[in-house]
Parts: sequence; structure tokens; C-alpha cells
Amino acid sequence: MTTFKRNILITGGAGFIGSHVVRLFVNKYPEYRIINLDKLTYAGNLANLKDIENLPNYVFIKADICDYEKMQELMELYHVDGIIHLAAESHVDRSIKDPFTFARTNVMGTLSLLQAAKVYWESLPEKYEGKRFYHISTDEVYGALEMTHPEGIEPPFTTTASSSEHHLAYGKDFFYEDTKYNPHSPYSASKASSDHFVRAFHDTYGMPTIVTNCSNNYGPYQFPEKLIPLFINNIRHRKPLPVYGKGENVRDWLYVEDHARAIDVIFHNGKTAETYNIGGFNEWKNIDIIKVVINTVDRLLGRKEGEDMDLITYVTDRLGHDMRYAIDSTKLQKELGWEPSLQFEEGIEKTVRWYLDNQEWMDNVTSGDYQKYYDSMYKGR
Ligand code: NAD
Ligand code: TYD
Repeated sequence: MTTFKRNILITGGAGFIGSHVVRLFVNKYPEYRIINLDKLTYAGNLANLKDIENLPNYVFIKADICDYEKMQELMELYHVDGIIHLAAESHVDRSIKDPFTFARTNVMGTLSLLQAAKVYWESLPEKYEGKRFYHISTDEVYGALEMTHPEGIEPPFTTTASSSEHHLAYGKDFFYEDTKYNPHSPYSASKASSDHFVRAFHDTYGMPTIVTNCSNNYGPYQFPEKLIPLFINNIRHRKPLPVYGKGENVRDWLYVEDHARAIDVIFHNGKTAETYNIGGFNEWKNIDIIKVVINTVDRLLGRKEGEDMDLITYVTDRLGHDMRYAIDSTKLQKELGWEPSLQFEEGIEKTVRWYLDNQEWMDNVTSGDYQKYYDSMYKGR
């Protein structure tokens, strides 16, 4: 029987970000056993991991993180010594329609995983020595920033908050690691609650936890209910592009593989009990990013660039729609040397190309229940 140097449980590994993290760890660390635990909800898809599924250091377990007994059993069975916890309900619009599911998975599920790890690790002679519970969270827990700017300068403007030269910002405030939590959506409220439980397990029991709060991710394998893949697919099929409100909301976009690299660095070198913000220093108004996506899809499909602009359709705004998110990730850059590797233009080109080249993946995830979801979310909006 092979013995592995580490046994790392990754939850939510069949989802968007999780699949990139699993792929990175399985390929980069053949000496680690990677146990991917996922319930396979609508957002989880094993097709995201086809290229690594037969590797000897990879195991997949279909389970619900809320199943506490199962979590306990798995900790012992696989001698888990590290956890990277990504499993969650992740879509704000769904949380507005069905907050209970978010409280169940994001709060109770996280608690069940924490307690199972605690009981198992405390039963070992070395206890918490060499262990790590790494919780993946979001910048949305911090609430929303205003579109403020220095006098006389219209945004976007260059700021000194970042080491990045090309940093354009829509306000002078950022989310820092010590920014007060102020979540507005049921999604962000459930993530905030789970973050508090993770920190409480450190403060109360001494569990070696770590939390990171990341900005919006984009890239391959994202479920097409989120802005970028949804719009790429709609442009391809010349379907309307439902822009919420005036399209003025700002998000800070990070290429998903850069997030996965940050998770790798932080899992190995981050300090216990610390929080790190992860972001791209890459703020975009929704309407501007949508125009870039339209131009890119048109160009790559051999259409006239911009000919699909008339698909833009302004619809009723999202309830409680947060105006602006912007992460300051200076701490991570300074302390652990991580920086985003891709310029946005390069990342969006790669992303659009991937979705256009992987129509079969898109067709699979948009068949079945997807159409019902789409109709219920956008009909009459
Ligand atoms: P996703 O919705 O694509 O994937 C979530 C995965 O979790 C799916 O595979 C799903 O099957 C699984 N899952 C859901 N409920 C489960 C349960 N009860 N038990 C076991 N597995 C379950 O999400 P994502 O975009 O990849 O986000 C992953 C994590 O990163 C989440 O915790 C999210 O809050 C956080 N995050 C996401 C972003 C982003 O832009 N997508 C940004 C910052 C943080
Ligand atoms: P989304 O991808 O859902 O991420 P989040 O809400 O976590 O930031 O949305 C990104 C932005 O795009 C957000 O401001 C809402 C907006 N949006 C639309 O305008 N239309 C859409 O159909 C969707 C899904 C999002």
C-alpha cells in the first residue's frame, strides 16, 4: 500500500474553483493523496476533472458536508491532515430565492466539517501538530464599497493602494483583512457566518485554521449562471444579455488559476489564524466587461467585432445589489510573494476561447434543469 506524505481533503472539488485547486494539487504533489469530497449539486461536475481522475494520488468521494457522521468516518479512513474547504452554495441570485439551502450548506456544513476535524485531530497523539483547516471565503462578506474618488479626478483612476502599476480603481476605499464584516445578501451572510465559526474553532480549541477572502473569479469550468460564462453562451446563441440595473456595478476580477496558485501558496506558507485577501487589482464596471466579452466572442467566432452589442438588455436590478467590490491583496503579495500572473486581456481571451472550444461541456451543463432555472430567474424581469 502506498503511503502518502500528506492526506488532503478538498471539499467542493467538482465545482468551478475547486476543480482547478484539485487539478493543481494532484499534478504538482504526486506525494500527496488528494481526496475530493463533493455532493455533486447542480454546480458540481466530474467532467471538470476528466484529465486527472485516474491518477493514483486522487480519490473522489460523493458526500454531503452536512453529513457529520460521514465526515467523521472519512477523517479516520483517509488519515486527513489538511483540509481545503471550498464546498458551498455560491450564487447570490439563488440565495435571494432560497436562503435556507445557503444556511444549511455554508453554515451547518462548515460546522459539521470543523467538528469532525476537531474530534479526529484531538484523538491523535500529536493532536493539531502538522494539521491545517483552510477555509475559502469571499470578499462579499465585507459588504459593498462606494464609488468615491479624489477631488477633481473622475474614476477610473490610478491609486497608490497597490504595487501594481496598472491598477485602475473606482473608489479610494478597498477591502482590507481588518475591514468590518457587513454582508448584505443571504449568500454573503452565510459565508460570513461560516468564517466566524472557523475563527471560533481556532480561538476556542486551538485548531490551526486559516481564512482567505477572494474577489470574483473567472475562467474555464464556471457554471453558466454567473455573469461571464452565461453571457459568452448567450452571445454565441444570440440570446439577450440580461444586465442588472444600469450595469454600473463594479467587481474585481481574478483569473481562477491565479486563485488556485494563491491557495497553494497560502496552504503551505500562510500563518495559522491569519486572514489573507486575494484579488486581481482589476476593477471593472459590469457594462464595460460585457462589451469586452461581446467583442472577444464576436472576433473569435469570425463575426464583425461588436455586432452583438444590441443583445444588451437592461433588466430589473438584483435585490440589495452591492455596488462595488475591490480587494487590497498587498498583504499576500508582501508576505508570501503571490501576484496575479495574467493580465485581464489575456485571461478573458483564454476564457472565451475555452468556452467556445468546449461547447459539449456547456451543452451538458445547460441541459436538464438548467432551462427551468433560467426561466424562473429571468422571466418577467
Ligand atoms: P461552485 O458553485 O462552482 O462549486 C461549489 C461546489 O460545492 C460544487 O461542486 C458543489 O457540488 C459542491 N457542494 C455544494 N454543496 C455541497 C454540500 N452540501 N456538500 C458537499 N459539496 C457541496 O462554487 P465556486 O465558484 O467554485 O466557489 C467555491 C468556493 O469559493 C465557495 O466557498 C465560494 O464561496 C468561494 N468563492 C467563490 C468566488 C467566485 O467568484 N466564484 C469568489 C470568492 C470565493
Ligand atoms: P455574478 O457573476 O453573479 O457574481 P457576484 O454576484 O458574486 O458578484 O455577478 C457579477 C455581476 O454581474 C454582479 O454585479 C451582477 C451582474 N449580473 C448581471 O448584470 N446579469 C446577470 O445575468 C448576472 C448573472 C449577473
